[in-house]
Order: sequence, then structure tokens, then C-alpha cells
Amino acid sequence: MKSAIILHPKNICKEELIHLLTCDGEEEKELFDYTRQLRNHTIGNNVYMRGLIEISNICIKDCLYCGIRKSNLHTKRYSLSDDEILQAARYAWENHYGSVVLQGGERNDAAFILRIEKLLKQIKKLSNHKLGITLSLGEQTEDTYKKWFDAGAHRYLLRIETSNIRLYHKIHPQNNLHDFHTRLNCLRILQKCGYQTGTGVMIGLPFQTTEDLADDLLFLKTLDVDMVGMGPYLEHRETPLWTFRNQLLSQAQRLKLGLHMVSCLRLLMPDINIAATTALQAICPEGREKALEIGANVIMPNITPAINRANYQLYENKPGMDEGAEESTRRLIESVRRSGCEIKPDTWGDSPHWQHRNKSSETIR
Ligand code: 5AD
Repeated sequence: MKSAIILHPKNICKEELIHLLTCDGEEEKELFDYTRQLRNHTIGNNVYMRGLIEISNICIKDCLYCGIRKSNLHTKRYSLSDDEILQAARYAWENHYGSVVLQGGERNDAAFILRIEKLLKQIKKLSNHKLGITLSLGEQTEDTYKKWFDAGAHRYLLRIETSNIRLYHKIHPQNNLHDFHTRLNCLRILQKCGYQTGTGVMIGLPFQTTEDLADDLLFLKTLDVDMVGMGPYLEHRETPLWTFRNQLLSQAQRLKLGLHMVSCLRLLMPDINIAATTALQAICPEGREKALEIGANVIMPNITPAINRANYQLYENKPGMDEGAEESTRRLIESVRRSGCEIKPDTWGDSPHWQHRNKSSETIR
């Protein structure tokens, strides 16, 4: 590995990526050391926290892998009240998070769109317009994305899930509510609207190959996204993909592959924001810390009121079900330190990639 990649990290080809995704031992260590240093030299060892508020598990989509899919009748549906959401946002503001993420099942009815718009304005107001807001609320029209942007959201997460169109359609129902091109188009619209745009993929899906994952990495680079969140696929018994559970890589292998994906992405895109995702932690308690050690720089502690968490199970054994926001936060700060990074409080933690492209500077309160 030594030479080619280290000297020319920007020109890595697909074959090299496949090799790096599967390397072991000394070579793996070398790769991980390299991408940690690359991150530290390019954007520093700061880690930004986003307080994750899971606002509702009501969803119009029926993704074949997801525990909150519409057809799962075994999930108790909930929607946080405005007060609960604002309280969580206030908690984030008072505890120096710098920004929050509002994430929830996809809905596109007029009442929902209006409600989000109002909530955005209220969150801005309660924080003297200082708290940053990321949305993760699925596919919407350009008009809705614009409305929410104007109301105060400045980052948006919408995972492509896989860049392989055939695989995308295998893991989603065959109807026009679940269309690869629509999703890709949404990402382009988000970029056009001015959002810092984040996407990502699941790693270790049934039918997915290492070649697919190398293509995913190249896809992220071509799309020129500002932020990426990706994590291992985790089987959920109340979903159709559960049938294929015996064809999966072991969870340990999925974790390893997830870490290699983070490391390789840092190599390809040295100045983007990369999240250390909860799905890594679901496999291994130290999963997120390992991702921070090798190149990730964002972490999203769950600040949803604890009583609702058990119902937001995208996958089984999701960690942090039984702890309140304060406990989650305390644990996280400790673990980030252990991974050799430093939490930067009260900061939006905008993607340096986005800043470079827009010649803007970080907003610090
Ligand atoms: N395993 C891992 N990640 C999942 N997601 C949904 N279901 C699963 C699962 N079974 C991820 C998807 C989605 C994000 C909100 O959660 O990538 O975009």
C-alpha cells in the first residue's frame, strides 16, 4: 500500500479501493494511521456534536430493511409534541451542542411541512438564532426544501442507501415512492437550495459486494457531498430482508468493513464531515470511537426523550435505549476523549468542504 495511495490519495482507482476495503494486519494499521493523520492535518482532531432528536417514527415509506417501515404493525407509532421537540432543542442549546438534527419517518402532508417550518423558526428563536439545524426527513419537493431552508435549516441528510441502482430496487418496494432517481434528484435539489448536503450508504446489505462499496465511495466523491453518515446494515426481524439474514457477513465483519469505508472515504474526501454512526456502536460498544480514531469527525448523541426511544428502532439492539440525554452525553464526551479527539462545543461544525467551496467561515457563537 505504502507508495501509491499515500502519494496520490486523490487518484485512487476502484481496484485500489477494493483492496483497501479488504486489507488486513499491517496494511490495515497503516491505512488507519494514515487517514487519522490526514484528518488531523486537513481539518484537525475536533469532533462536532449534533443533538439527535428523533421526532417521530410515523413513515409513509416501506423500505424492506427498516424497522419503522409503514407495514411494521409491531411498532408503536409516536410523534413528539412541539413542546418535547423544543425542550430537546433547548437542552442541546444549553449544553453547548452547537447544533441539532431533527430526524424522523418520512411524511409529506401539508400539516407536517408547515409544522416543521414553524418548529425551525421556534428553535432558531429560542437560541438567539445561533443553534444550527440539520434536517433528516426524507424526500420532499423543492418547494418544501426551500421553505425549510428559509426557516433556518442549513444542513440536510438523505442517504442514498446504495449507489447500485439494481441493489437499491432490491431493498425497496417496487413502486414509484421508492425510486433511486427520485432520491438522487432530491440530493441535487438540496445542493441547489444551498444546504450542506449529506448522504450515505448501508454496509453489508444482503446481495451487496465489495465492488458495490467501492462504487459507493466513488459515487460520494462524484456527487461532491459535504457530509457522510454510513454504517453497517443490521437485520430487523419485522422486515422482509430478515429472510436473508443467513447470507450476511458476520456482524464483526460488517463492523470492520464499516470502519474501512470510513477510512477510505477520508482518503478520497479529506475535508468533508464524516459521522461516527450509532449503527457501528450497535455492533460494538466502542464502534463510534474506533471510527473517530481513523478519520470520522462528527458524532450525534441521541437527545430524544428516553421514553420514546424504544419505538425508534430502525434496527434491533439499537444502543442507548435506556439512558436519558444527560447520561448519553456524559458517556459520549468520555469516549471521544479516549479516541484522541476533542469535542468542540458551541460550534455548528460546518463541513470544511462546504466552507472551501463557498468561501464562508464557521459560525461560532
Ligand atoms: N440497518 C442499518 N441502518 C438502517 N437504516 C434503516 N434501517 C436500517 C437497518 N436495518 C438507516 C438507513 C436510513 C437511516 C435513517 O437509518 O440508512 O437512511
